[in-house]
Amino acid sequence: MRNSPACAMFGIQTPIFAFSHCRDVVVEASKAGGLGVLGTAHFTPEELRRELDWIDAHIDGRPYGLDILMPTTYARVDTASLDTGQLLPEEHRRFMAKLLEDNDIPPLPEGMAEDIRRATLRRMTVSPEQHEEVLDIAFEHPFTLLAAALGRPNDSVVKRARERGIRIGSLVGSPEHAKRQRDAGADLIIAQGTEAGGHTGTIATMVLTPQIVDLVAPVPVLAAGGIATGRQMAAAMALGAAGVWCGSVWLCTAQSDAPPEVKRKILAARSQDAVISRCYSGKPSRVLKSGWTDAWTAAGAPDPLMMPLQSLLTKEAMARVTRANAEALASYPAGQVIGQMQNETTVRQIFYDMLAEFAEAVDRLNHLGS
Ligand SMILES: Cc1cc2nc3c(=O)[nH]c(=O)nc-3n(C[C@H](O)[C@H](O)[C@H](O)COP(=O)(O)O)c2cc1C
Repeated sequence: MRNSPACAMFGIQTPIFAFSHCRDVVVEASKAGGLGVLGTAHFTPEELRRELDWIDAHIDGRPYGLDILMPTTYARVDTASLDTGQLLPEEHRRFMAKLLEDNDIPPLPEGMAEDIRRATLRRMTVSPEQHEEVLDIAFEHPFTLLAAALGRPNDSVVKRARERGIRIGSLVGSPEHAKRQRDAGADLIIAQGTEAGGHTGTIATMVLTPQIVDLVAPVPVLAAGGIATGRQMAAAMALGAAGVWCGSVWLCTAQSDAPPEVKRKILAARSQDAVISRCYSGKPSRVLKSGWTDAWTAAGAPDPLMMPLQSLLTKEAMARVTRANAEALASYPAGQVIGQMQNETTVRQIFYDMLAEFAEAVDRLNHLGS
């Protein structure tokens, strides 16, 4: 597979791109011959420096990428606000408090909710000023792919990345978005189907990938959404993708830092338990169905807030849920492939299994004859 343009672009052996917020997953994936991509949305700039220093110390010089949320629409908030709770409407605060109280979830210790909200505002980098701050730190590190989700990097970001030889990738969920990113000069397009965990559109990977491959050629396309096995990888590459970009499949690995109650729920979940909701971040995102997601669809529930405000509510609620080990309310971004995931495993094992099954699938197809 070294002939895949995605391998050639990054000097990797296997065109498996592993998206994760967990540095151990990123390092293991790059060491396994793919490309680990660290999502920055879980880190303040200071935390990001610590994570990247750690990655550099452990990745044995292998290439890796970074992924930054760059939404085109979001709520402008005063991140220096003295009491971040005041940024949230009374109705939403009351709704969350009642839901947790009704489920016997104890409140956080004094001051912790404010700390969580404040950190969330610094982690969810939505504005160009915040992106510059993140990139000042990121550019001290030798990453080779900058992926943008929910929008496109502005000219200053692109210029700074290009000066360092960093490739630009964009996650897209529709042909229109892909065209825009191609015209803006993206080096790599990630066609993400609706099956995917996290922010997602409405078109399935099977339908989206070939359209985007044709539209943006010769720009290489990675298929994302619903890919966790070698057969799914072979299908994606048969559709014209140069490789695959996976997120959910790493969640139940030993290297993943997903909360234990989330891992337990995912291993027991069916594909239909990964539902699209705005209740997690404010934008449509596929997440694990739970008492939290159900409550936001019930009659009388408030409309979720815009990004990043909804995350202030979710992060506080999920911190309380994790402390109480309250599986019934636990939610987390997760795609439809959770229905295929039954055992905790390792990143390395997933690479072995995917590559072995990919080879079998290709072999089987070759033997079908023409
Ligand atoms: C837990 C989780 C968090 C995610 N967060 C982000 C994110 O911050 N930025 C991003 O570009 N994509 C994010 N995604 C989407 C992934 O980049 C990827 O496109 C998706 O997981 C692929 O589909 P799959 O889940 O079926 O593998 C997330 C996915 C998961 C499962």
